[in-house]
Amino acid sequence: MNFTDKIALITGSGSGIGRATAIMFAEKGAHIMVSDINEKGGLETVKMVEAIGQKAAFCKTDVSNLAQVKNLVQQTVATFGRVDIAVNNAGIGGDFKITHEYPVENWDKVIAINQTGVFYCMQAELAQMTKQGGGAIVNISSIAGLKAQPYTAAYTAAKHAVVGLTKTAAHEYARYNIRVNAVCPVFTMTPMVKDMLTIDPSFEKKLLRNIPLRRYGQPKDIANAIVWLCAEETGFITGHSMPVDGGMTA
Ligand SMILES: NC(=O)c1ccc[n+]([C@@H]2O[C@H](COP(=O)([O-])OP(=O)(O)OC[C@H]3O[C@@H](n4cnc5c(N)ncnc54)[C@H](O)[C@@H]3O)[C@@H](O)[C@H]2O)c1
Repeated sequence: MNFTDKIALITGSGSGIGRATAIMFAEKGAHIMVSDINEKGGLETVKMVEAIGQKAAFCKTDVSNLAQVKNLVQQTVATFGRVDIAVNNAGIGGDFKITHEYPVENWDKVIAINQTGVFYCMQAELAQMTKQGGGAIVNISSIAGLKAQPYTAAYTAAKHAVVGLTKTAAHEYARYNIRVNAVCPVFTMTPMVKDMLTIDPSFEKKLLRNIPLRRYGQPKDIANAIVWLCAEETGFITGHSMPVDGGMTA
């Protein structure tokens, strides 16, 4: 897989899966627009990409803010000239409560970031890619986008919505030479999951029982799938939501 001089925009790339994806694209020749609400993490990722020898820029963006998302795509085009690849990865975990007690304020926040944020990003990216004549988008859903994940009503609803948005856009934009896929990770060792495990350390063993390969994902496992779905070699795949889950959904 070769991404020489391709331009990849990655939201939430100041940490975890987004950062691992930025590094992997850069190792394969791409230049990276790093974006995150967290400036410190984003600037660290920029340094990591530059250390590989590729160009990187940072644009602080809250994906739940439409004006900031439009600005992110404008800044990417102003800096690098185009957007070949977009990875809509920024997200939060949300509260852990049974549905009838799920706090409405947290529902609104999780939907705004994990669902509406992906929609805003896709709108701005698709407008640009349509003008350019093509591109590849990967949205980050979750196994919670494919099956029940108890006590996470907002997260599960938003991640199912990401799968639906992915399928719809794949159909609509195939004629514009734009592919849209999703990746659905199982529990992956990033700050998001480490925080969840602090709620109840016994989760760590309990959750592992459901993963046939008997290990958690690492950020690189997920980045491998994201990068693969953007490659020329997978140019006939669109509208797919790919579990990367050690066999859990099987
Ligand atoms: N880690 C897992 O087990 C797992 C499993 C399935 C899906 N996912 C999904 O993968 C994606 C990345 O998560 P991660 O595990 O790397 O977590 P992470 O917390 O390490 O990274 C998420 C990044 O998103 C950023 N972010 C949060 N809110 C934002 C906002 N409003 N605007 C812009 N950036 C924002 C954070 O600052 C952080 O840098 C998320 O969409 C998450 O739902 C993670």
